[in-house]
Amino acid sequence: MISSKEKEGLLQQKAIVIWLTGLSGAGKTTLAEALEKKLFEMHFITQVLDGDIVRKGINSNLGFSKEDRVENIRRIAEISKLLLNSGIIAINSFISPTRDIRQMARDIIGSGRFIEVFVDTPIEVCEKRDIKGLYKRARAGQLPNFTGVGAPFEPPIQPELAIQTVGFTIDESVNRILDYIFPIIKIKDK
Ligand code: ADX
Repeated sequence: MISSKEKEGLLQQKAIVIWLTGLSGAGKTTLAEALEKKLFEMHFITQVLDGDIVRKGINSNLGFSKEDRVENIRRIAEISKLLLNSGIIAINSFISPTRDIRQMARDIIGSGRFIEVFVDTPIEVCEKRDIKGLYKRARAGQLPNFTGVGAPFEPPIQPELAIQTVGFTIDESVNRILDYIFPIIKIKDK
């Protein structure tokens, strides 16, 4: 058996899960993609897991009831664990709306490897952006359990990191995440 430590040694990185949580439209996907790009340029191997994509593939049988959201996150946490065991850094972008759901992910992955990043964008801003038109539909009663409108979002109390996106560029926000994770993921003098 090759251990995950040996794989991390080969890849010259320590594997963690960077878990971006926040409302729809908060900027999670944008930050995840920009972070992956920067890490790649620094020779770190990552995998982005994103709600919209995963829900078209492995989780295409799940909706947005409380139970389905739990199952969505449970599967993602298990997949992230496999990535960790391969030495790969996972960048996860999921609303993951409740403290219980995020705690479950943390428990599956292991607290030392789970970096919770709250993408803290006020709902008014998300709603104004409304890139996918979902807030409009939710307000019109067409999406009854839309997060922040008809379903709850519980902000993290003690995330490893909170990123306010308003008033900051994408680059500034990504650099804040990078400053936090770099000492954790680097091996020797990479
Ligand atoms: S989670 O709550 O289970 O973590 P996830 O991040 O996978 O959610 O998926 C959220 C995405 O699904 C949103 O960005 C949005 O595009 C879409 N979506 C569709 N219906 C809903 C809904 N009722 N609530 C939240 N997001 C929804």
